[in-house]
Amino acid sequence: KSVALIGAPTDAGAADRGSSMGPEALRVAGLREALAARGLQVHDRGNLNGPGNPWQLPVEGYRHLTEVIEWNRLVHDAMYAALREGHLPILLGGDHCLAIGSISAVARHCRERGKKLRVFWLDAHADFNTRELSPSGNIHGMPVACLCGFGPAQLSELSGQKPAIEPSVIRQIGIRSVDPPEKRFVHEQGLEVFDMRYIDEVGMRQTMEQALLGLDEDTHLHVSFDVDFLDPEIAPGVGTTIPGGPSYREAQLCMEMIADTGRLSSLDVMELNPALDVRNKTALLAVDLIESLFGKSTLMRRAVP
Ligand code: ARG
Ligand code: MN
Ligand code: MN
Ligand code: MN
Repeated sequence: KSVALIGAPTDAGAADRGSSMGPEALRVAGLREALAARGLQVHDRGNLNGPGNPWQLPVEGYRHLTEVIEWNRLVHDAMYAALREGHLPILLGGDHCLAIGSISAVARHCRERGKKLRVFWLDAHADFNTRELSPSGNIHGMPVACLCGFGPAQLSELSGQKPAIEPSVIRQIGIRSVDPPEKRFVHEQGLEVFDMRYIDEVGMRQTMEQALLGLDEDTHLHVSFDVDFLDPEIAPGVGTTIPGGPSYREAQLCMEMIADTGRLSSLDVMELNPALDVRNKTALLAVDLIESLFGKSTLMRRAVP
């Protein structure tokens, strides 16, 4: 199996600068070597080359809309091309606005191949804001809404079809920060959200069993991993830390249970901000978790009753 690494060094969708350095921090943390050790063929495609971050205030409800559109076009084309070539693409972000380009490409690919799609959104945030609902104008808080058809045309029509995905394909896990108007919209659209309270109450194992229900051989599983999913005590290198996230072991179990399905077909690793990290430890943790996502386990797996 071959994996394509696609770096997208931008933070145009965020208020804080620094996630543009994410791709290189993941490489420095040994991502390629870790994947190669899993027996994967790794093709590092290097970084996409898009516009710089103008570091401006929001205009008409969006910060850096022009730059965000351009970056998402580049990401869409690169992810789509990698999928067509039969690779499992890994997008190295970059801020989470780029999931619009990434997941729209995956949706287009699935549509053409007659495959079902399931999207796992691992995040502290629902990222389901629109211009009208957003408190910040930061587009990294809007990708799920854009993908579901609520957003500017240049972002919500990237896959060639609007909406790119139905809310029913999404499973959000680890959520613990949703803005009040965004919360109403999440319920209205029927997103399936396994928030931290749910994980506290039933545990990560049962949460993942529920979220994975219904996957079959025809399902393309995409994971969009926002590093702020993790508890900030273990993962300080992100711009929008929210306390009370999954522990190291909970996050490992989450990744391991996804790996067990054998369905993982594309991945985003987003929001890593080396400017806020401590000796690259968040990048190293992300690589450690990605190893589990690709099937690394302590012992040979045995069935748990
Ligand atoms: N809900 C907040 C907003 O819309 C924060 C979003 C953070 N998103 C992220 N991908 N880190 O501004
Ligand atoms: Mn987040
Ligand atoms: Mn996010
Ligand atoms: Mn490891």
